[in-house]
Amino acid sequence: MIELRRLHRFFGSTRAVNDISFEIEKGQVFGFIGPNGAGKTTSMRILATLDLPSYGDAFVDGFSAVNDAERVKRRLGFMPDAFGTYPDVNCREYLDFFARAYGLVGRERMKACQHVMGFTGLDVLATKPINGLSKGMKQRLCLGRALVHDPSVLILDEPAAGLDPRARIELREMIRELAVDGKTVMISSHILTELAEICDCVGIVERGELLAVGSVAEMESRLAKSASMRVTVLDRAPQVAEWITSNNPDCKVKVKVIGNAIDFELPMDQRSQAKLLRGLIEAGFDVASFGVVDRNLEEVFLNVTKGRVQ
Ligand SMILES: Nc1ncnc2c1ncn2[C@@H]1O[C@H](COP(=O)(O)OP(=O)(O)OP(=O)(O)O)[C@@H](O)[C@H]1O
Ligand SMILES: [Mg+2]
Repeated sequence: MIELRRLHRFFGSTRAVNDISFEIEKGQVFGFIGPNGAGKTTSMRILATLDLPSYGDAFVDGFSAVNDAERVKRRLGFMPDAFGTYPDVNCREYLDFFARAYGLVGRERMKACQHVMGFTGLDVLATKPINGLSKGMKQRLCLGRALVHDPSVLILDEPAAGLDPRARIELREMIRELAVDGKTVMISSHILTELAEICDCVGIVERGELLAVGSVAEMESRLAKSASMRVTVLDRAPQVAEWITSNNPDCKVKVKVIGNAIDFELPMDQRSQAKLLRGLIEAGFDVASFGVVDRNLEEVFLNVTKGRVQ
């Protein structure tokens, strides 16, 4: 449904987007992760036909954002990272304006606005001036605006920025609902743990380059340099730490003892993990628990990116 093909966008000597390619299937939620200045907004604006690439192209449902902008616009809803100011307009009028811009007329337009207000929970605020809305409500309205023409693809640029925890959860639920509905969603964020829960797939970008792309699970295992393990024993934790170090003479083991738990990092697969556990038990230690500590996207992000800015 979405494809970036060798996408480039330069601003003078700044390579905002530098040869990015990937595809997003129908009904997928794709997380676009990267530090400030990575090129997320630039890529999304090109997809939304608001900017043109220096080289390469972006496609929505097979239509080129460069050569077929009208068809792309009909199929796509874009939620920008900044909400413009619109004095003297209330929520209903705001949505109605965008519905008109998309060519909806009469009852169809009324129904579309009503549906969107219901979905985003804005119906109770229909007559409220939008300049008086809180950040969370503005975000809802912005999402509503992106949805009003019932697009099959949604591009959301940091929709969760500045939201309180409840509003984040509600947004996540709305996005999930949209995906179940068959919409393809591309969402950018710095909030990685949050994306892990709603995304089928993530792409990590930095300095305009795509560093990694894949499912959340794939990324976590592929990019993990080693396994972070934790073993908890009933007693003699320091001896266990020593045993682990002395039984792995070939590699550097980082061992940390926290109470009865021993955290360690080893480059190993499941077979080696099973062998280690057997060894511990055979050595007479009372192992209460043994397992891989959950990796999260934060860690993957830190492993992959270098913190370079431009
Ligand atoms: N109109 C512009 N003129 C000049 N440089 C630009 C322009 N738009 C973006 N850039 C530069 O392109 C790079 C990528 O910017 P972009 O806004 O796409 O990053 P981002 O990943 O969205 O960052 P953030 O997380 O801060 O929103 C930055 O170095 C930025 O300064
Ligand atoms: Mg941005």
